[in-house]
Amino acid sequence: MPEHPASARDFDFHGPALDTVFDTYRDLREQCPVGRSDRYGGFWFLTRAQDIFAAAHDPQTFSVTPSMLLPAFGTEVPLIPVDIDPPDHAGYRRILMPLFTPKAVARLDEDMRRTARRLAAEVAAREVADVSYEFARPMSTTVFSRLAGFPEQDRPLFDRWIDDIVYARSADPQRALAAGREVMDYFDALLRSRGDDAPGADDLIHHLTTAEIDGRRLTHDELLSFCYLLFLAGLDTTAWAIRSSLWYLAQHPRAQARLREHPDETPVAAEEFLRTLSPVQAMARTCVRDTEIAGRKIKAGDRVVLVFGAGNRDPAAYDDPDEVVLDRRDNRHLAFGVGIHRCAASNLGRRELVVALQEFLATVPDFSRTDPAEPWHGLGPLTLRIGR
Ligand code: HEM
Repeated sequence: MPEHPASARDFDFHGPALDTVFDTYRDLREQCPVGRSDRYGGFWFLTRAQDIFAAAHDPQTFSVTPSMLLPAFGTEVPLIPVDIDPPDHAGYRRILMPLFTPKAVARLDEDMRRTARRLAAEVAAREVADVSYEFARPMSTTVFSRLAGFPEQDRPLFDRWIDDIVYARSADPQRALAAGREVMDYFDALLRSRGDDAPGADDLIHHLTTAEIDGRRLTHDELLSFCYLLFLAGLDTTAWAIRSSLWYLAQHPRAQARLREHPDETPVAAEEFLRTLSPVQAMARTCVRDTEIAGRKIKAGDRVVLVFGAGNRDPAAYDDPDEVVLDRRDNRHLAFGVGIHRCAASNLGRRELVVALQEFLATVPDFSRTDPAEPWHGLGPLTLRIGR
């Protein structure tokens, strides 16, 4: 087997590395599809769709213990259900599923649309707007806080925690850990204040505090872990999906015009934005028994990262993989993961993206990048010029 090239040993999927990550994926898939990076204590990475698919479907070899998050996500306890292996995983996941069925998500539709319309109207009134901070993030925080039963007045706190935990964690792990503790303390107090729960409450906290697993209620620690994970999983993923889709549309006036004229085409187009821009670029596993992938020997104890963002652009799986084909059919992408940990709320994530894009395009006149030369940032601000 050839040595790992320097691009592999230095491979990262966080922070500034995101600016050029799609070029990196192309090079790695060609030169070293299963490679080893020295970062975060060392990890293997899989960039081909077929390898990611196989590993995600083999939890007996690729465990989520101690965590599927690399580096750690500002917490010292395993997160439910992402860091839980079979057989316990299924019971936790069963608790969540009724919250995110297509029917349950459809009930949120009108409220989501009202929120998107209100935020888009504020953007439309401006000549230049940061649509990340003024549209994508408040949209996602508002929808999720209502669903979860998190007090609306606490939303500025959520934004700060997301900044510290999601945006700053590779550059400043201590800041992420400190924010993680604050989040845990916050949910600890919130859960205690809800006690055995207000009768008649109809939100996620009520659902979790009254749910049963094998005939028993969840413990306080389990509830805390669930809340923290949902906070992480529910907030910046959809914000990323919305922001990055607007980033694409800002540079492609014809695509913008087409979806403005044909809003019914947005659901199919949204799948293509999810495929090419992958709001969750990668998730980790730990190998628990020696194995081999594409001739590389992976040992028990090694960390292995499934790079969904790279698999989503694998030419072996998609024609013209780097192109956004607005009406691409049979788009079975990896943006929500695959296997037993596939996103439990994919119905909500994709619906929120569709509603946000439809309302934004219906309300905001033609928009473009203020600096077309600026690279793609998965994270951070997205400043757009509004109107011609
Ligand atoms: C466009 C938005 C979203 C994307 C792209 C996304 C993507 C993902 C991915 C890639 C995984 C991990 C799959 C794996 O490692 O195998 C995941 C897991 C998960 N996501 Fe999402 N997600 C989104 C929105 C949400 C939202 C809004 C929520 C909750 C309100 C949520 C809740 C979860 C949960 C609970 C899991 C863990 C499932 C398990 O371990 O069984 N996600 N998501």
